[in-house]
Amino acid sequence: MSRIKIETENRIKEVADIKEVVEDFVKLRRRGANWIGLCPFHHEKTPSFNVSPSKGIFKCFGCGEAGDAVSFVMKHENLSYPEALRYLARKYGIEIEEEEWDDEARARQQRLDSLYLVNDFAREFFEHNLHETDEGRSIGLSYFRQRGFREEIIRKYQLGYAPRQRDALVQAARAKGYNPELLEALGLMRNGRDFFVDRVMFPIHNMSGKVIAFAGRILRKDAKAPKYINSPETEIYHKSRILYGIHQARGAIRREGHVILVEGYTDVLSLAQEGIRQVVASSGTSLTDGQVHLLKRLTEDVWVIYDGDAAGVQAAIRGLGLLLEYDLNVRVVVLPEGEDPDSFVQKEGGERFMEYVRAESKDLVLFHLSQVQDRLRDPIEKTKAVREVVETIARIPQSSKLKRDQYLRECARLMDVGLEALIYELNRLDRARLRKEARKQGVDPAPQAGPEVVKRPTRSGPTPAAETHETQERDLVRVLLTFADKPMDPESGDTVADFIFANFEPVLLDLMDDAVARQIIEEMLSRYEAGQPLDTRYFLQQHPDEQVRRFAADLLFAEDDYSPGWDRHHMPLVTQPPPEENHVADAEKALLNFKLRKVIRLLAQKTRELAEAEKRGEEKQVQTLLQQVAALQKAKIELARALGVVVV
Ligand code: GTP
Ligand code: MN
Repeated sequence: MSRIKIETENRIKEVADIKEVVEDFVKLRRRGANWIGLCPFHHEKTPSFNVSPSKGIFKCFGCGEAGDAVSFVMKHENLSYPEALRYLARKYGIEIEEEEWDDEARARQQRLDSLYLVNDFAREFFEHNLHETDEGRSIGLSYFRQRGFREEIIRKYQLGYAPRQRDALVQAARAKGYNPELLEALGLMRNGRDFFVDRVMFPIHNMSGKVIAFAGRILRKDAKAPKYINSPETEIYHKSRILYGIHQARGAIRREGHVILVEGYTDVLSLAQEGIRQVVASSGTSLTDGQVHLLKRLTEDVWVIYDGDAAGVQAAIRGLGLLLEYDLNVRVVVLPEGEDPDSFVQKEGGERFMEYVRAESKDLVLFHLSQVQDRLRDPIEKTKAVREVVETIARIPQSSKLKRDQYLRECARLMDVGLEALIYELNRLDRARLRKEARKQGVDPAPQAGPEVVKRPTRSGPTPAAETHETQERDLVRVLLTFADKPMDPESGDTVADFIFANFEPVLLDLMDDAVARQIIEEMLSRYEAGQPLDTRYFLQQHPDEQVRRFAADLLFAEDDYSPGWDRHHMPLVTQPPPEENHVADAEKALLNFKLRKVIRLLAQKTRELAEAEKRGEEKQVQTLLQQVAALQKAKIELARALGVVVV
């Protein structure tokens, strides 16, 4: 085994720009010195995902996920640490140097690496069979050609062919020495045989282009067998969180400013082949939160192109309402009767297709309005129709008041109903939804109770943050994490870490309240004593304890005030001046404050012990305690003087 050289690793981390890295996956907009967007790690409809280019880190104030560019890629793409480094190296054109590596990599990382590896092997196997074998060429490739798919698109989407032989893949994998268990875990093998047999293959990629699953299409008409079969859910494939074609479409979606959503694999291929690259498929099922979330991170505008059979349109509208809940702008295109995007674009070509789309696309709500026009003559039907349309409008978040208003007005005009009646109906629906959500969460309905209200971790009680022990403990950790290697004393060459650890008596550890802060200081102390680098990134990104990673990110983010809702008890440092300005004073102050608090606490404890010892008449104990109390009192006065505060 070999691993990436530490020099290369450092180089990658230096060059990788957190904003650029995140932006490949998440749409960001500026807020002050930072950038915000929708968190890719939990479902949310309003952004709480922050990126700080100057600090090189991201943090979500909704779910707490945080880290730097490397951990972002790891987490987002389900990659191991070295894989994430390789990804970034590729992105920034950095050559990777490796060295021998004996350490056992963590089991999960290896597991994921192997799963991706075997999937990629299978992808290659299917591709090879399609292009290089007689069977594949005469059956698979000729099928694709006959459907109008040209070489370029077949390669771009890495299409393949699964041969008729019932264990072709299993045998090939065995010959290569792959563990059959992996084939099984990926859904490629069932009962010792291939899962995909005699089908053309569509690899399903995640956003960064790794193959996470496959779909296979049957080649002959067979009443019994399903037209498409898919890989099952696996450790790396979560169907509800992926859209077919998202990897290939990613850049085009950004460039075009919209995404085209279709139903089928072949629709994606045909459109992309005709130059309409901003296209993804929901693969025939109704949209899930995860999928909409994926889109919302790339664009605000979704154009949905559905087949020309009117039957499904009504159901489709309901399904598309989910897009409205994410405050997306949705346009719907209905194709001519009997056409799907694949057939239509092959007939018309890309340009005419887009002309049609631009001319015929309708805003989803207005489209819904147009669909109910012929029901307006009958008064009872009309009431129902109005309700249905208002139900659609009600799915737009209440915060998008302007949008809702405009739709209501349009609705009133086109359906010839009073605006007040519509507003009344909308309010009723809003209240009903709030009640429902409140019930779901088991809380009283509150005005802003909604699904995206995230419970933030709070510390106990309303004590002002500036007075708790934890505050000072965290402040000390912050100083260590941010400036450990900065010069403290230019003459002696001492660093901030030298200064702090020279003045930090280990007994102080036992007096700490905050377990995570204590853990970090302990680990830094032992790294310091062992002469290891005090790498902030280690705590932020590689530390095995998630609490520690989050804690580190919280601290590094804390100087900013871009998140007004953030709980101050958890973010005790927001009131401090930007420490970059003078880290020497900052470090001194943090250490002195920390020690002063501990001394005061110790003093109280020892004073109590002294009183008890006196009561019991333990003379020797009294003497010791008297000395300790005196020493502590002296320390207290000195610390207070150094800090310039008066202690009573
Ligand atoms: P072609 O017939 O090859 O053009 O595919 P299509 O995409 O036009 O198929 P269709 O319109 O029938 O279905 C749209 C999408 O639904 C497909 O691309 C698949 O993702 C999905 N789908 C269709 N049939 C099946 C099936 O039998 N099983 C599963 N799991 N998915 C299917
Ligand atoms: Mn089709």
